[in-house]
Amino acid sequence: MRRTIAVVSAGLRQPSSTRMLADRLADAARRELEQLGAEVDVEVIELRDHAHDLVNNLLAGYPSEELKRVHETVAGADALIAVTPTFSASFNGFFKMFVEVLDDTALVDKPVLVAATGGTGRHSLVLEHALRPVFTYLHAVVVPTAVFAAPEDWGAGDTAESSLVHRIDRAAGELAREVDRRDKPTHTDPFDNPTPFAHLLGAE
Ligand SMILES: Cc1cc2nc3c(=O)[nH]c(=O)nc-3n(C[C@H](O)[C@H](O)[C@H](O)COP(=O)(O)O)c2cc1C
Repeated sequence: MRRTIAVVSAGLRQPSSTRMLADRLADAARRELEQLGAEVDVEVIELRDHAHDLVNNLLAGYPSEELKRVHETVAGADALIAVTPTFSASFNGFFKMFVEVLDDTALVDKPVLVAATGGTGRHSLVLEHALRPVFTYLHAVVVPTAVFAAPEDWGAGDTAESSLVHRIDRAAGELAREVDRRDKPTHTDPFDNPTPFAHLLGAE
């Protein structure tokens, strides 16, 4: 079966360690899914490319055509890999804006892998106290292994059970197995079939 993984990266810098982690996770998830017999497409969404559209969506209440395509990519994907830098012990503002403009049915029962980068490993629980609750609220299925990469993780080797490489592989395996046991997602865009005003006003 053909499967699509949507990858959302909320890194600000270029080059971005958040994007690097997102790419590593996407490669590992692709590999795991291919081992399960799937053909895999990966769609990467850099939120910094949609910064102005995200603000406009929040102010106007509806997305630009480009942001609408982002919504469709995420809602139509078989899985989501969501990666943010840690800012002030939480996800960054970009990431939160993205979550706020998502249709609240877009992630229902969708396998999601959460990950974050940070300046200190002492903030790794941001994954559990900030990211996981948001996706649970949206009724996504967040895989048990969440991946945090601190500066000391990069280039630290891949032998130890706790290494970044090991954590990436374990999380990707969990995501692939959740995808494998699901049918293709079906998602209806709420803007395609709005409730008529007359109905909202009680006239019919
Ligand atoms: C405004 C700001 C706040 C930050 N707050 C934290 C923090 O609370 N905890 C942490 O571990 N790192 C913090 N950092 C460091 C970033 O999370 C880290 O540099 C991240 O990997 C940057 O990702 P990027 O390379 O994709 O931009 C902060 C960085 C900035 C710019």
